[in-house]
Parts: sequence; structure tokens; C-alpha cells
Amino acid sequence: MSSAATLSPRACERLVADLTSEIGVRAAVSWAHAVALVKHATAHGLVASLRRGGAGPDHTRHVLGALAASHPALEPLADPQAVPLWGSPISQAGWELIARLWSTAPIVDDGHRVDGYRLGDAYQALSADARKSRALCQTPPWVAELLLDLSLEPALDDVGADRVRMIDPACGTGHILVAAFHRVRAHRPRGRAPYAGATAERSLERALQAVHGVDLDPYAAALTRYRLLATTAGILGSPIAALPTSWPVRVAAADALLNTDEPLLHRGRYDAVVGNPPYITVPDPQTREQIRRAYPQVCSGKYSLALPFTALMTELARPGGTVAQLTANSFMKREFGKKYIEQYLSRLDLVWVIDPQRTSLVMGRPR
Ligand SMILES: C[S@@+](CC[C@H](N)C(=O)[O-])C[C@H]1O[C@@H](n2cnc3c(N)ncnc32)[C@H](O)[C@@H]1O
Repeated sequence: MSSAATLSPRACERLVADLTSEIGVRAAVSWAHAVALVKHATAHGLVASLRRGGAGPDHTRHVLGALAASHPALEPLADPQAVPLWGSPISQAGWELIARLWSTAPIVDDGHRVDGYRLGDAYQALSADARKSRALCQTPPWVAELLLDLSLEPALDDVGADRVRMIDPACGTGHILVAAFHRVRAHRPRGRAPYAGATAERSLERALQAVHGVDLDPYAAALTRYRLLATTAGILGSPIAALPTSWPVRVAAADALLNTDEPLLHRGRYDAVVGNPPYITVPDPQTREQIRRAYPQVCSGKYSLALPFTALMTELARPGGTVAQLTANSFMKREFGKKYIEQYLSRLDLVWVIDPQRTSLVMGRPR
């Protein structure tokens, strides 16, 4: 990103507060973000056959509907459960408040890459609920790259871009997944024959096949899907509707810790498991006990969610696969971490614990 302008979290908060009296907070966040999404898709030519001259709530809904229809993976954008604006009309005046913010705040991509990076940051800035109750927090690019250097890169060298499988089981709006997508797309085999069918199309399809994500928040999951397709279409210079519908987008909305039916969460199948899962304690006591029962090997006392996520991430890795997790170091200081350190981490083939002051990167392999 090269723009000097930055997104103001205060301006986003103020906007949501101003809209809340009219439509409630969920719809306020939904409308505010959808207007940004529509601006992004339109500015980058990602949505085809638009009706002309639109500016207002109807136009936003029209373009969002067109996006949802443009690829099967984007159907959740038409689902009121994921996108509450469908059940809550907004006034023209309310819509104009939103449009005013996005007319000056940076939301479209201005570099050579279209990847919707700022849309992720905008969702974090707009949704206090995503930040506070689900710990949505964008992974800084250098951390995502470090995690991928240490996990996905060796896996790519080991099994190649045709076969590699990575997952982020708490993928948020997709910063790590989009970075992983580029790694797979651009990978060149060392000491081996080049990949067969070395066209841009084939490398994009291969990258989509390799990256997998899950998030509890259906809108964050939908946004990740959009970002992967926007990145793909941006490279090809086409609208999303022109992409083959057979190209997979493997991102699901699910509780990664408790959902036992989600196919993306089948254990033991990933070469690289990478994530920045939440470090909060679970607010709801019932869910907290359910997770404790599902992960008795790590959960003790007032455990942080980072601990069951380490157990989940280790289970998702195949034998010999690598896990790379950004986590908090509270487990090193508090009683709940004793069992995790002494009985769980000690059984992993732990390669790195990097602790730059507060947060830690834990890297390991299941034995
Ligand atoms: C720190 S953010 C992830 C950032 C993301 N990996 C990125 O690339 O920027 C943590 C995410 O965990 C998700 N989350 C929280 N509990 C979860 C659960 N039980 N299952 C799946 N995702 C969960 C939140 O919705 C949030 O998006």
C-alpha cells in the first residue's frame, strides 16, 4: 500500500454510532462495510453488468446482489444472517453519511495488487463486536510472512504447489490466507521440473486449491472469500463472474473448536497450519465448558482460547506437517499455562518459541 491516507478507527466508530439510532448496530456495521465493499468491487472492475448512474441504498444492494450472484463462493453475501443489511433498509441520509466517509478514507487498492487488504482493516475498525467478542484483529503483514516463511515455504519445497495444503482455522478477513495464496501461486520448484501447465490460470487455480480457512464470523469468512476471488480476478484483469465456477474457494464459516461436521476441519490432512487465533477467555460460560470438555489435554483453570487452538492446529496437521501460531504469552505467566507447557508443548517437536516482548510465535510439529 502506498497511500499516505490512513483509515481512522475513530471516524469508523463515529459513523457506526451515528447510524445506530436509525437501524441498530449490526445493520449499521453491515451497511457501512457493504458500501466500502461495493466501492472496491466497482473501482477495480470486479463486478460486471452494472446498471448505470447509481448512488444510494438501492444501488449498493443491487451491486452487492450482483457480486453474490457472480460466483457460488460469494452466495453468503446475499444471506441476511451474514449480511444484516438485507433485513434493514437505510435512509438516503444515512447512506450519504457512509458514502462521505469512504469518499476520503482509503478503501480501494492503490498499488499494483488488488487484494482488498483495506476492507479487512475497515471491518475491524467498524465492528466493535467482532473485536471484543471474537478477538478479530488483523495479523500484521510481517508476522503473516514470518509464519509462512517458517511453515508453508518448507512444505512447498517438500510436496510442491500442486499438492500442498495449508489452513488458517481462525482466518478472520484473510490477511494470512491472501499472503499464503501469493506464496503458492508464485512458487517455483527448486531442483525439480517446473510445474506442468505453467499458465497464470493454472497457478491461480493451484493457489486457490491450496489455501483453506475457517472463521466463526460469517461476514469475515465471506469477506475472505471475496478477497481471494478479487485477488484472482485482479491478476487476470477480469470481473469475478468470468472466473471458472469450478475454481475452489475453501473458506467456511464455522466454530473451528467445536464443529465436528465441517469437512475443512478433518484432522491430519494439512502440510502447514498457520494462524493468529484469539487469546481471549470465552465470555459465555456454557461454551467455555464445552471447549474445556473437547480439549481436556490443554484447558485448565481460566484458560485462554489460544490453548485449545494450539491443540486443534496440531491435530489438523498431517504427520510431519508444521504448525505456526501467533499467540499471547499469558500462558507463560499464569497458572492455566502450567498443564499446557508441562504436559502438552513438551510432547510436541517444538522448533521455535519467539517472544518479541509480549506476543509469541509457537512453532512445532506433532510427533
Ligand atoms: C486475530 S483474528 C485472526 C486474524 C487473521 N488470521 C488474519 O489473517 O488477519 C482471530 C479470529 O478468530 C476468530 N474466531 C474466534 N473464535 C473462533 C472459533 N471458535 N472458531 C473459528 N474462528 C474463531 C474470530 O472471528 C477472528 O476473526
